[in-house]
Amino acid sequence: MKRIFPNSFYNIWSLLGAGLAGLSLGLILFLLVLEAMAEHSKPYMGIITFIILPIFLVMGLVLIAWGIWREHRLRAQGRSSEGHLPRIDLNNPKHRTAFSFFMVGTILFLALSAFGSFKAYEYSDSDQFCGEICHNVMHPEYTAYQFSPHARVGCAQCHIGSGAEWFVKAKISGAYQVYSVLFNKYSKPIPTPIENLRPAQETCEQCHWPKHFFSEKQRHFDYFISDEKNTKWSLNLLMKIGGGNSEQGPTSGIHWHMNIKNEITYAPLDSSRQTIPWVKVKGPDGKESIYRSTEVKFSDEQIDQSHKRRMDCIDCHNRPTHIYHHPSRSVNELMSIGWIDRNLPFIKNVAVRVLNTPYLTNQNAMDSIAYQIRDFYKGNYPQLVATHAVKIDSAITQVQKIYNRNFFPEMRVSWKGFPDNIGHMYSPGCFRCHDGKHVNESGKVLSRDCNVCHTLLAQKFESDQQEVSMQGVNYRHPVDVDKAWMEMNCYDCHREE
Ligand code: HEC
Ligand code: HEC
Ligand code: HEC
Ligand code: HEC
Ligand code: HEC
Ligand code: HEC
Repeated sequence: MKRIFPNSFYNIWSLLGAGLAGLSLGLILFLLVLEAMAEHSKPYMGIITFIILPIFLVMGLVLIAWGIWREHRLRAQGRSSEGHLPRIDLNNPKHRTAFSFFMVGTILFLALSAFGSFKAYEYSDSDQFCGEICHNVMHPEYTAYQFSPHARVGCAQCHIGSGAEWFVKAKISGAYQVYSVLFNKYSKPIPTPIENLRPAQETCEQCHWPKHFFSEKQRHFDYFISDEKNTKWSLNLLMKIGGGNSEQGPTSGIHWHMNIKNEITYAPLDSSRQTIPWVKVKGPDGKESIYRSTEVKFSDEQIDQSHKRRMDCIDCHNRPTHIYHHPSRSVNELMSIGWIDRNLPFIKNVAVRVLNTPYLTNQNAMDSIAYQIRDFYKGNYPQLVATHAVKIDSAITQVQKIYNRNFFPEMRVSWKGFPDNIGHMYSPGCFRCHDGKHVNESGKVLSRDCNVCHTLLAQKFESDQQEVSMQGVNYRHPVDVDKAWMEMNCYDCHREE
């Protein structure tokens, strides 16, 4: 047999190395072909294609080189291993059987490797993989996601999108993520990746294109005050979502104003972008105007150094799927559908209080929530404990459920660290700019009029007559705080509630 490679290559180590390298290379090529044919890119598959297999490939190559080096050394010492390789004689029945076994084994091995990598390839596409492989680490994001409007939208569709450039970026950061999980180097909580997120035009707008927005959306809210009777208050809001295509009809509203007609750029003072003293608007005619906060003290230098950002979807919808709700909101919701019985005195108050208490672990929270709620009724309404036992138990179960979905003590995640920028009740949100204290050169104020963003269609206080108006009713704050709700921001009081 004629040898293609130098003689020193034909030693057992180099041959093994060649086998390993060849197999890895084959699998890499196989996966690349799969990837090229797939409809969606499978981000984490890169961990196998671009990290694990290449490691084997390199190991194989190193083995080849080492084998050759060793062979040279042996030769220099006059102890070549040449001739030590087994000779295969297919005329010898023993050799023939062994050879057949070897061939069948190899083919099976190759087929299984290909099948295995295909399976791994499929699995890496699933959201289960994203959420569960890094179970503890991304448990909060995955849980919140499952209960969100995007529960069926793949992680990769927002976090990576399509196209080669982002594919490669995702591979690199994916590799780093795997490393940080394996070596416990990740931070708790995982920081929010707004800088690294792909621009919304290339992710969100693939499904929700701005010209598609139109009309308004009605939202109904029920609230329960923290008094003994859990007094109910309801509100109906017509959200002026608006938007639209100026070639097809009237345009107006939140999306139109912010995303289509004007280009808005802002300079935040903090990395979570909660303090925004400087906002620039560029109108359709190219004219610019700058709103400055009259309340926050800041210098022009700070603005120059700030990471300015063109406003897009994620500046308002920063939590479209990983939504950690404020306990008051979750409890109101479950009380309004009756899962937490509003006939239990002070239940709103107690439920919100136990949810807001810090706990060290989830188990600790589960036990303590049950204990505190029971203890409250034992201490204050002993007769209820017997008559309403089932209702108290089910309230406890529901409060525990709220906790499980919204609080993750092991990862230090809850609404507190991840404010939602839609709205203005529990975090600054829209009022980061629309606080009535941002003024431009010509004295125009960014309005915080209650009927600019939504129309207050109706409000109702417990058994009062419902007030209704298509033009918007005059807001009445559910408890008497005098004019404070007009002068202060809602979240100033409600954040800590
Ligand atoms: C609808 C789009 C969307 C989908 C689907 C989505 N994410 Fe996110 N994710 C985001 C956005 C937007 C942020 C940044 C939030 C911010 O800036 O406040 C984010 C942030 C994160 C963070 C950083 C921590 C945090 O909470 O801010 C992690 C981790 C994460 N996502 C994991 C996942 C996983 C795992 C999945 C799938 C189970 C997933 N995401 C699906 C949009 C999405
Ligand atoms: C793969 C398609 C897809 C992508 C990408 C996507 N969404 Fe969605 N989005 C959906 C679907 C489907 C719904 C649910 C529609 C429904 O319930 O009627 C939805 C619903 C929503 C809603 C309404 C939520 C509610 O409370 O009803 C908002 C807001 C939203 N998406 C914002 C975003 C933002 C911001 C991004 C980018 C970070 C994004 N979406 C990316 C498909 C997508
Ligand atoms: C200025 C803030 C702001 C920006 C920027 C913004 N939105 Fe919205 N969006 C809102 C508000 C407010 C609502 C109504 C929320 C509610 O009460 O449900 C809304 C509602 C939506 C809905 C739900 C519509 C429905 O009919 O239920 C979708 C989908 C959505 N936005 C997607 C987007 C996308 C995609 C972008 C980027 C192109 C975007 N938004 C940019 C504030 C914004
Ligand atoms: C980064 C600052 C900023 C944030 C945050 C912000 N806005 Fe605005 N908003 C502006 C600016 C600037 C204008 C344009 C003012 C102008 O026309 O000169 C505007 C205008 C509007 C208008 C049109 C007002 C009118 O008088 O016609 C609506 C509606 C609106 N915003 C809704 C929202 C909603 C809802 C949110 C929260 C989800 C929000 N905005 C968050 C800066 C902001
Ligand atoms: C810059 C736009 C904007 C202005 C001005 C504004 N709101 Fe809102 N408001 C919103 C948005 C957006 C939401 C929707 C939050 C959501 O989808 O959860 C909201 C929600 C609410 C809610 C329900 C809050 C909740 O989460 O339960 C109340 C109550 C409310 N607004 C009252 C007011 C009052 C009173 C004023 C006048 C002082 C006002 N708003 C001014 C944008 C605005
Ligand atoms: C000076 C402090 C203060 C300000 C400012 C304030 N509130 Fe309140 N608010 C309260 C107090 C106190 C309660 C009673 C809390 C309770 O009983 O649970 C309350 C109760 C409420 C409730 C019902 C209880 C619940 O489930 O959260 C709503 C809704 C509400 N406020 C909306 C608003 C809105 C919207 C604004 C801004 C326009 C606002 N508040 C501004 C102090 C304030």
